[in-house]
Amino acid sequence: MENELKLLTGSMVTLALATASLVVMPYMQLSGVKPAAGLKPYTSAQLRGRDQYIRNGCIYCHSQQPRDKVQAPDFQRGWGRASVAADYYYDNPHLLGTMRTGPDLFNIGARQPSVDWHIGHLYQPRAYTPGSIMPSYPFLFEIKPEAEPGDKVITLPPGYNPAGKVVVAKPEALDLVQYLISLDHTYPAISAQVIKK
Ligand code: HEC
Repeated sequence: MENELKLLTGSMVTLALATASLVVMPYMQLSGVKPAAGLKPYTSAQLRGRDQYIRNGCIYCHSQQPRDKVQAPDFQRGWGRASVAADYYYDNPHLLGTMRTGPDLFNIGARQPSVDWHIGHLYQPRAYTPGSIMPSYPFLFEIKPEAEPGDKVITLPPGYNPAGKVVVAKPEALDLVQYLISLDHTYPAISAQVIKK
């Protein structure tokens, strides 16, 4: 009986410590975080685009968390300053990511603000970055004999357009690009670190 009691006490203490350090302390640290001063809430098109980002597995190759200069050369890579908690205020779930098969996208909207570039790159990454290993997303587009009113026809680099046809972006592709160009956290981090007491 004595051993069972020790086992039970030991497990309860371990569980309590784990809950305190992984749930209670992070909650206390982060519950007062306010949105960063330069951060805008997502529009409904951007939120739909964010959903496409999740559905299409972009997170498996792209992170959204530039690291501090002492940890990694992310700033020199042009990915922006280290992110802070307040940058993620409107993100639920956050899309930090762990893999970096492709570049970090936390500031892609500042680095590459062209809607046409993003749309074309999603249709065929290799048309823009020779040898790119990013998958193409042809199902976000429609290939038609000719454009209809209201269609967003994409302009591809020479040689990538299907002969005699037009490539039209579906609403999913347009929403995804709205989300990508909204990813701009280049405002100063100082004001972003204000924590409500
Ligand atoms: C298999 C890994 C992989 C997946 C999945 C992937 N990418 Fe990429 N992505 C890359 C690589 C590698 C590059 C760098 C080469 C290039 O520009 O194509 C890249 C580049 C990019 C760039 C340009 C970044 C820059 O700094 O110029 C954007 C934007 C982008 N990806 C968006 C997306 C989106 C949106 C999705 C999901 C629909 C996605 N990627 C899915 C690997 C991936």
